[in-house]
Amino acid sequence: MSNYHIKHLEEYYQVYRKSVRNPEVFWEEIAEEHFMWRKKWDNVLSWDFTKPEVKWFEGGQLNITENCIDRHLHIRGDKTAIIFEPNNPEEEAQHISYHDLHEKVCRFANVLKEQGIQKGDRVCIYLPMIPELAISVLACARIGAIHSVVFAGFSSTALSTRINDATCKMVITSDGSYRGAKTIDLKGIVDEALKDCTCVESVLVAKRINTEIHMEKGRDHWLQPLLDEAYTDCVPEIMNAEDPLFILYTSGSTGKPKGMVHSTAGYMVYTAYTFKNVFQYLENDVYWCTADIGWITGHSYIVYGPLCNGATTVMFEGVPSYPDYGRFWEIVEKHKVNQFYTAPTAIRALAKEGVEHLEKYDLSSIKVLGTVGEPINEEAWHWYDDNVGKRKAPIVDTWWQTETGGMMITPIPFATPTKPTYATLPFIGIQPALMDENGHEIKGNQVDGRLCIKFPWPSMARTIWGNHQRYKDTYFSAYENKYFTGDGALRDEVGYYRITGRVDDVIIVSGHNLGTAPIEDAINEHPAVAESAIVGFPHDIKGNALYGYVTLKESGEGRNHDNLRKEINQIITEQIGPIAKLDKVQFTNGLPKTRSGKIMRRILRKIAGKDISNLGDTSTLLNPEVVQDIIDNAL
Ligand code: WTA
Repeated sequence: MSNYHIKHLEEYYQVYRKSVRNPEVFWEEIAEEHFMWRKKWDNVLSWDFTKPEVKWFEGGQLNITENCIDRHLHIRGDKTAIIFEPNNPEEEAQHISYHDLHEKVCRFANVLKEQGIQKGDRVCIYLPMIPELAISVLACARIGAIHSVVFAGFSSTALSTRINDATCKMVITSDGSYRGAKTIDLKGIVDEALKDCTCVESVLVAKRINTEIHMEKGRDHWLQPLLDEAYTDCVPEIMNAEDPLFILYTSGSTGKPKGMVHSTAGYMVYTAYTFKNVFQYLENDVYWCTADIGWITGHSYIVYGPLCNGATTVMFEGVPSYPDYGRFWEIVEKHKVNQFYTAPTAIRALAKEGVEHLEKYDLSSIKVLGTVGEPINEEAWHWYDDNVGKRKAPIVDTWWQTETGGMMITPIPFATPTKPTYATLPFIGIQPALMDENGHEIKGNQVDGRLCIKFPWPSMARTIWGNHQRYKDTYFSAYENKYFTGDGALRDEVGYYRITGRVDDVIIVSGHNLGTAPIEDAINEHPAVAESAIVGFPHDIKGNALYGYVTLKESGEGRNHDNLRKEINQIITEQIGPIAKLDKVQFTNGLPKTRSGKIMRRILRKIAGKDISNLGDTSTLLNPEVVQDIIDNAL
């Protein structure tokens, strides 16, 4: 029996038990047999959740790009590593073989070095979904630079905050990007952001949309001429197992975004191992994850996990609605996609457009379907199962987080019987716990509580960049000796988990995590606004949408509310990005507050969700009279 590739349910239980009873022996075997190391580790695991400190494979040395690229060259050098499918279906797809990828990554790595980037330096990557994105990520890893990819839908303010937080020395971007029928001036956004960043010494610019752009002398360089001149081989930097591989920002309920730091070896081992099993990837399969590499799903399951397994991974530049709602299925047919991984929000948007878009295409290549990012509702699950998988392709509902690096609770297809809306069983090595409000673990089945993880796993984030205390406070302080996820979950009679959603002030809109505080801060910058509170409310396609309660200063009275709504969304777009725009804005005379001055979001959430039959205890409110007023004027 191979522990690396699990095929049956009994095998899952057997391997799971082994991984939990003797984690060090288990992970040592996986790491030793399936990866390439320059030096073996001295110690498989050391950990202390009180500090918190976790180290996997300490003393080991490696380079992750040797695992993702070099070691495949002699066995599958001509195999396609990346299929690039452009935004415009008329433009030809590109097939990048492992040989090509090696050369491209090496050239890029040499350019980085020539530009003065060294091991440990931070490089910000702000690119659309074009091959340069995956290549630049790997080029950083090749030379030991820490990449910080920022999703190219974020605004200049959001970008500069992230560049400054990690003191990035370089930004890699493009002249612009295509998004359906639109083009976006990415370089303009970077120029704007860099007005506030003194740490950036150089900017590399890929050409994508061929527009005239401003190039700052001495700072900005076109990428292609540099690549053309670069040497085609680059000796990989030898990294320690615990050296940081990348920083990726995620929203918290308060404060600025958290730069989650992932380390090299544990991340590699876990993302590769989960990829193999959760998608049951076989050598000739074509795998497609529709996420953007700007999110953790893209890092782990477009780039590192698939490439580590020598897979063929599709990168799609466009959107599901362009040129029409059949685009995903056209791509599935065209590239004969075997594993398809997307988000519930995309499934709901496509379901709404009707099955005629699907019926035109041959989807018979599909073997496994996956979802990620938010709870999937039953209707969407069945639509996906009936129409895309034709009830033959198991759906893997994968629960995990930016912080966890890899999938944590998920079925293994063809092994774990699926159940709609359930992420089912913990993956190998993962030890979940449900906690009650008093901090006790809830044992047994048919229970619900707050989801924690009791034991370290290889790909957990090691810290928050520049703020270890915040890492401790956010994840290791709510429950003693446990990692707290921020999610609620229930466990059914057979031990399957269903994630019920966030229990903190993070709202997931179209699969994107948004913290309420940064949005409120943005709104409060409007001169007419006194204060504001944001809550989520159920939305058919986005899962949740944002509802803002805004109290105006006196000077705001008598102003045109429609204009104010537009201005508020404009500020949010500038400060964060269009993904954080409010669907509804209600102007209120006040916000319900506790005597200690805290906004009672629970009440606001109920009103936004049109669920006012039981508002719970309002006796502790300082100003109960505003509640009725808000109800009367609710949108
Ligand atoms: C939510 C995405 C239910 C959850 C990989 C988590 C899910 C947050 C699922 C992390 C799922 C993710 N079912 N909820 N299958 N997957 N979530 O950091 O609330 O962007 O805490 O990572 O998304 O989002 P993040």
